[in-house]
Amino acid sequence: MRCRTIEHPETLKPETFFMSDIFEKALQAQTAIAAEAPATAEALEVFRIQYLGSKGLLKSLMGEMANVSNERKRDYGQLMNTLKQEAEAKFQSLKVTFEAQAQSVDSLALDLTAPGEPLALGSRHPIAVTMNRIVEIFARMGFSVADGPEIEDDWHNFTAMNTPEDHPARDMQDTFYVVDAPGMLLRTHTSPVQARVMQRREPPIRIIAPGRVYRNETISTRSHCQFHQVEGLYIDEGVSFADLKQTLYYFAKEMFGTTKIRLRPSFFPFTEPSAEMDIWLGTETEKNSRLTKGTGWLEILGCGMVDPDVLEMCGIDSKKYSGFAFGMGIERQALRLYEIGDIRLLFENDVRFLRQFEAAI
Ligand code: DAH
Repeated sequence: MRCRTIEHPETLKPETFFMSDIFEKALQAQTAIAAEAPATAEALEVFRIQYLGSKGLLKSLMGEMANVSNERKRDYGQLMNTLKQEAEAKFQSLKVTFEAQAQSVDSLALDLTAPGEPLALGSRHPIAVTMNRIVEIFARMGFSVADGPEIEDDWHNFTAMNTPEDHPARDMQDTFYVVDAPGMLLRTHTSPVQARVMQRREPPIRIIAPGRVYRNETISTRSHCQFHQVEGLYIDEGVSFADLKQTLYYFAKEMFGTTKIRLRPSFFPFTEPSAEMDIWLGTETEKNSRLTKGTGWLEILGCGMVDPDVLEMCGIDSKKYSGFAFGMGIERQALRLYEIGDIRLLFENDVRFLRQFEAAI
């Protein structure tokens, strides 16, 4: 809309003259906006601030509405709307143009020969690395992996392992009981997996069972309330202590490179006879001397011939079958393999510690 012809000033009342001035200013702004041609994104921003900004020209022209006579307010309003639409349309279309340009400049700036962003690779936990090594050695001897629940029932954890409720050996394995489920507890060893496998399967049985176990222990540099074990079980006709000894000897040689093992008589309720196995590290290095408390021998596992009562409790004919079992702690071996001085480091999940095992597989 164009402004009406201005009447001669002398015939106009003062405010009419003033009013045509307001229209004139708006029309000038319209011409100015049409003539603007910002050539860059920065210039466009200046344009936006100058015309459309909260302190811009259009805002101040809108403010003039109060000075427009009632009959002409409508005309003025329409003129202002047109102006605003024209300015905004110009702004939007140039904005799209500049953004597209910026993108294509970015894509041209892409250097296909630049080295890629490095992928942050994780690493295996030292416990997992140690456990895998143990599993792999026994797998070579034909053992397969079995597992059982960490929340175990009393029967599998103790009774089936020949440790009835009043047995003093229970005292050595105090654990955490599930309050809402009487008779359920966090397993104290991986031995209950023996019972579970025997109940399910017919001999020959040749399994190892790696997993996490719990005990109500005071946490210190050497012990923790959670740790890991690997259980082993071999049941067949005519299995003897000699088989046990040879199997463990092979393991010790593969795992630690030692050529000397020692079996000391011991007691476990679920094996008869029972033994503990030490490996020979010697006392030549200071480290080995410290680890073995000066004796050269390091205890690594408990073992024995499966008690016939255990076989019977789990539904296996003890007259026909015999077998051996063993159980070892993993943390101790990991501490030894990696020369870690404090067991707690294994459970704190401090990435600065874990990163040191990136090369281990
Ligand atoms: N379960 C025993 C423990 O945690 C270790 C053990 C000893 C396991 C002798 C066995 C075994 O299978 O035959 O102390």
